[in-house]
Amino acid sequence: MVIERLNRKQYEFLCQFIYKETGIVLGDAKVEMVHRRLSKLVKTKGFDSLASYYQYFVAHQQEEKSDLVNALTTNLTRFFRESHHFDYLKNHFIPFLLVRNKSTRRIRIWSSACSTGEEPYSIAMLLVSHFGQYLQHWDIKILATDIDTDVLNIAMEGIYPKAAISDIPADLRSKCLRAVGNDSVEMASQVRSLITFKPLNLLERWPMKGPFDVIFCRNVIIYFDKVTQQQLFHRFEQYLSDESLLILGHSESLGGAAALFTNQGKTIFSKQAQDA
Ligand SMILES: C[S@@+](CC[C@H](N)C(=O)[O-])C[C@H]1O[C@@H](n2cnc3c(N)ncnc32)[C@H](O)[C@@H]1O
Repeated sequence: MVIERLNRKQYEFLCQFIYKETGIVLGDAKVEMVHRRLSKLVKTKGFDSLASYYQYFVAHQQEEKSDLVNALTTNLTRFFRESHHFDYLKNHFIPFLLVRNKSTRRIRIWSSACSTGEEPYSIAMLLVSHFGQYLQHWDIKILATDIDTDVLNIAMEGIYPKAAISDIPADLRSKCLRAVGNDSVEMASQVRSLITFKPLNLLERWPMKGPFDVIFCRNVIIYFDKVTQQQLFHRFEQYLSDESLLILGHSESLGGAAALFTNQGKTIFSKQAQDA
């Protein structure tokens, strides 16, 4: 089967659709990537050409939306990616929360674009391995969300190829992983039990109340434009308690919203106290 290319009008229609639904800016720079990913989707769905899929999509946008979004999101992630964020949690912020929140004994962490789960499982493994003695008596929960339902299914399974675990510190591996056959590992039940996975589009209404002690929003706003980024930062700020953390990816910055936060280190920001 030859997959021909979309014409300009068709390509722009799909880019506009994805932008409205997800905030992701595709544009001319992504034309090769979009065609590659669409070709795969079209084959999986059994269409004989990109044009016939496009026509079908235009007529069935609501039903097809989720598959198109899943096909066009970029889901690259790793365990303990940008490890300084996890060092900061382990050495400074979780110890700080154990004092600050001692009257409620409650800690809430949100991994807001969790992809296939490596980010929330890294947080959970850190908690189990270094703060295990608190887990029984404290109410500690991680909410892990993503717009892409395919990656969420992988995350919920919690099974990873052995090749993916080299980034997990060795002392955590023995406590938190169980072998599955020769080539895979699964997350231990204590690690899984800390995390709730849910589909959530960052652009839409957030059903949870908050407030959170830590929000991870790493390596997703790079796909958004400045207006969407600023709207999100203001919403995150509303979902954080005073002095709680917003953690971004290595190439991301707060722009104008920097006035709402105090820089605590490489892409780690704390919400300024209201009376500061
Ligand atoms: C590159 S991954 C980042 C994963 C992880 N946070 C990390 O830093 O390794 C970006 C994720 O953002 C998700 N995403 C993109 N747009 C989104 C939106 N509007 N709402 C929620 N998630 C979104 C994608 O599905 C993808 O899984």
